[in-house]
Amino acid sequence: MNTTGNRATYEGLRDSILTFVEEHTSPSVRPFQKSVANWGDEWSDVAPNYLPAADLLTPALAVTAGETHDMVALFERDRIALRWEQSYTKADGVVGDDMLSGYGFAEVIGKHGPFVSSRVRSGIGVWGPDIDYPSHRHQAEEVYVVLAGNADFRLGDNAPETRTAGDAVHVSSMLTHGFHTNQDPFVVFYIWQAGDLREKSSFG
Ligand SMILES: [Fe+2]
Repeated sequence: MNTTGNRATYEGLRDSILTFVEEHTSPSVRPFQKSVANWGDEWSDVAPNYLPAADLLTPALAVTAGETHDMVALFERDRIALRWEQSYTKADGVVGDDMLSGYGFAEVIGKHGPFVSSRVRSGIGVWGPDIDYPSHRHQAEEVYVVLAGNADFRLGDNAPETRTAGDAVHVSSMLTHGFHTNQDPFVVFYIWQAGDLREKSSFG
């Protein structure tokens, strides 16, 4: 894939993200609208990187509808061009083999690019069925918008609640959070703001 093609792909995704956030009506998304609109203006090339989680976007299209389906479809179409990453390694000892073999994220705006921002971090995360993302916390304020599938979210001391496509989940700074995915592929759109945008989460 040449660089120009890669940049054009990411520009399309970035513009879709800007529109998605600007038009989103959830009060959980509203606090992020200003930072996303003013994300920055710098491009840094990133090489495509494959992870098996990218392949989950295709079956995920069957468990979403409407505007969340449209968003998943854009990333599904471009999945091969994206840099898929994981935040954790086996050596960290904080997440299980189920998660390491079945999850990945593709960032569009963030500290490490491809659109470089010190203000905001945004992209999508993908998990396979029946995966536990252990409870963790970080300085940055976060919102997840579920794009496909569903998961049982744990927020602070609250009992787990199922969140499904279209739901927004707000996570304030340092609030402990985690989730367990159910029987379908699970896709979220995420935004972080404030704090170190590549901070390693704390667990336990
Ligand atoms: Fe988080």
